[in-house]
Amino acid sequence: MASRYRDDLLRRIQSVSDIVDVVSQYLPLRKAGKSFKALCPFHQEKTPSFIVNPELQIFKCFGCGKGGDVFSFIMAYERVSFPEAVRIVAEKYGIEVKETEKDTRAEEEKSALFRVNRWAARIFKSYLWSEPGARALGYLTARGFSKQIIEDFSLGYAPPGWENLLREAKKRDISINLLEKAGLITGRSEKSGHYDRFRNRLIFPIQDAKKQVLGFGGRALGEDEPKYLNSPETAIFSKGSCLYGFPQAREAILAERRVALVEGYTDCLMAHEKGIKWVVATLGTALTPFQVRRLRRYADEAVLVFDADSAGVAASDRGLDIFLAEEMEGKVAVLTGGLDPCDFLQKEGAEGFLKLISEAREVFDWKLESFAARLDLDTARARNEVLQEMVRLLEETKSALSREMLIARSRFIQGICDRLGVSEEALRQRLRPRLPAGRRGGRRGSEAPPATGRDATAASPSRPLPQGRLAGLQRELLEVMLQGEAFTKSVVAAGGVSLFPDKDYQNLAEAIIRLYQEKGLLVFSDLMLALGEDAELKEMAVDMLEKGRKKGSLKRRLDDCLLGLRKEKEKRETAALKKRLIASAKAADEEEEKRLLREYQKRI
Ligand code: UTP
Ligand code: MN
Repeated sequence: MASRYRDDLLRRIQSVSDIVDVVSQYLPLRKAGKSFKALCPFHQEKTPSFIVNPELQIFKCFGCGKGGDVFSFIMAYERVSFPEAVRIVAEKYGIEVKETEKDTRAEEEKSALFRVNRWAARIFKSYLWSEPGARALGYLTARGFSKQIIEDFSLGYAPPGWENLLREAKKRDISINLLEKAGLITGRSEKSGHYDRFRNRLIFPIQDAKKQVLGFGGRALGEDEPKYLNSPETAIFSKGSCLYGFPQAREAILAERRVALVEGYTDCLMAHEKGIKWVVATLGTALTPFQVRRLRRYADEAVLVFDADSAGVAASDRGLDIFLAEEMEGKVAVLTGGLDPCDFLQKEGAEGFLKLISEAREVFDWKLESFAARLDLDTARARNEVLQEMVRLLEETKSALSREMLIARSRFIQGICDRLGVSEEALRQRLRPRLPAGRRGGRRGSEAPPATGRDATAASPSRPLPQGRLAGLQRELLEVMLQGEAFTKSVVAAGGVSLFPDKDYQNLAEAIIRLYQEKGLLVFSDLMLALGEDAELKEMAVDMLEKGRKKGSLKRRLDDCLLGLRKEKEKRETAALKKRLIASAKAADEEEEKRLLREYQKRI
């Protein structure tokens, strides 16, 4: 198994972790016999069909079929890769996961930057709450921010003067080099020496999920330009990868499964001030895929709140297409009357803001509508332009499934298709085909290449199962093998892995047989571990384990399957022999031909 982590580490994490414990941190579990039940987080349902089995350390939804071990659950729920899921589980149990040592230098630099930023944030904060900060604190209060919010967001103040922070740093022996790397001071261009970057500014520390300080935003208190001065890009800070207010909003976002995005620091603060805590800010820049992927781990839906000015820019900006590409539901709410979210919240309160959000439109519809609104749809040319834009937007989606869902969900598509005199089917035909989602190699995150041939519109998110009798026999035999090691012995005797022509089934059989040969028994959690990153194969195994249990006599089924699969194997061998026979005849290799012919005749 190609993995970033060592096997013994994985085993350790698995052995100390408890799937019931982990899952219940995400969903309320109810005891039901020996298992636990919940409403499935992976599909919509009203009665619980999501089961967690503590004995086998697996979960399984009998509604949508999702299943696997604790790592599969985290992968699916937090939408992360296997190594990331391992890290998350390890962290919950205080196990340190060390990756290869090669990046330690870069890591050390980063942690030095975090340290110096934490120190600076503390200094700024102490200024705000003491005499030099009186005016700044007054300004915040006058704008309607409470002590609580000012504290929660660790706001600070940098007084006027060129060397306040520098002087403090010298007292503490903090290196000039490090301060400069963190962007807290700047070198003088002509003379030697340095001076503070932030002077007479309110300070907004920008934190990551763990409240580590990535950088700072500084708002001018007077008329100084620019209004906001931010930390420069450093090894730990880039505007496009952070979300202001994230650590303060995280829990609320998880609870709501949605997030509202505003542009400014003060917009975010005011939302929190008014008790709407699932709000973060993008620092006035266009959204990046990185940010969307991060949010997607916590929320199913993001609502972007724009003022009328920014809305115009955003409508024609490709930035919003990220929601389509990353398969996250994005909505747009637009403020009118020249208000930004901060002003609006003060004027209309939380209630007004929530109402605005409830009226948000889907990114897809909103973009198309804004596009169409600029044109005169009575002309054929304009109609064609709209159609092209619609096709372009639909082609942003990564998977055929999400594209179909988009078409199905969009009220606008139906409306516009009618208006343009185009049928939905004609629209589909214009779209370049996509690979179905969930195929090997075509995973989320890796751009699927345009497929040739027809689009598989009904692609299931899981790996498609091979169809037919042969596949059925393989599946059934695996179901039996999963019920106990005794059956594996007979399978090995009858030909083992060679009985399974389909790759996925072969891999699963191989893992079971290897465990049997190494340990003499089959513990399901060992099998899960052995299958490692392959969440889809794990899901298949959980499914087979359950199905296998329900059907009749195992011994009879074992014999039937073995008989059937051996016959099939012989058929394959005969066919291969026949091929070789023909090849040898073509090559006029008489000796080989005679030998193969004898073998062939023996078989038929
Ligand atoms: P705004 O100009 O809307 O500021 O910029 P604001 O957040 O409403 O601030 P107040 O309420 O007037 O005090 C929105 C965001 O764009 C970034 C900041 O992150 C700001 O919060 N910005 C803006 C800058 O980085 N630099 C600037 O000069 C202006
Ligand atoms: Mn603003």
